[in-house]
Amino acid sequence: MSDTAIDFSPAAAPLAAKLLGSALEIIARYPEGRSRSALLPLLHLVQTEEGFVSPSGVAFCAEVLGINKAQVGAVATFYTMYKRKPTGEYLVSVCTNTLCNMMGGQEVYDRLTEHLGVGNGQTTADGQITVEHAECLAACDYAPVVTVNYDFAVDEATPEAAIELVEQLRKGGKPTPTRGARVCSLKDMQHQLAGFADERDGAVADGPAGPSTLRGVTLADQHGIAVPNFNLDAPITKTKPAREEKK
Ligand code: FES
Repeated sequence: MSDTAIDFSPAAAPLAAKLLGSALEIIARYPEGRSRSALLPLLHLVQTEEGFVSPSGVAFCAEVLGINKAQVGAVATFYTMYKRKPTGEYLVSVCTNTLCNMMGGQEVYDRLTEHLGVGNGQTTADGQITVEHAECLAACDYAPVVTVNYDFAVDEATPEAAIELVEQLRKGGKPTPTRGARVCSLKDMQHQLAGFADERDGAVADGPAGPSTLRGVTLADQHGIAVPNFNLDAPITKTKPAREEKK
């Protein structure tokens, strides 16, 4: 377990001066002897300052947890939410996985990157927008999906809607998402991912399921299809495979 008496290296000291209090608060959530489990939120904490996990961030995490930099690097390079180079104020992710792709996600991604003049993982010259294509964002019912800093921003996206979104962001606007909390900066999001409270109004995206989510159930109702009424208490009987007839 770490304590405030850590003698930080020159690489880690600047981050330690800013983040040590929050880092110790995170580490204190874990049982004695399990402090290395705090590495995931600590990496998010580091990103609140630098927008990515720099060599200084790796050094800070290693020294505050008492592990080596290779151990930190192995984790930081495994998960895509830990960035290895500076990221823009807004990380715009376009899902191009199976269902979103079928519903036009690749076209949204292609038109958006063409409009911004950047490729996957690259940032616009004004430092505002980083674009990435993402694997399933867990909202297939709203395909194709675009998120901003991991919050759902545009459901059932079109290229025009995605371009309008980034243009509003670049002008300093706060576009209203299709659902959920209002957009925040990537660094603010990292603070939440590190395990601190989300202070935004309406931060919790709550409410009944929308029409897209309920579409399958609605169609089943319209066609009179009901879920079979299984008797879960009935004993399971095995049927013997039919014998092959002897020739
Ligand atoms: S495939 Fe895009 S959200 Fe699932």
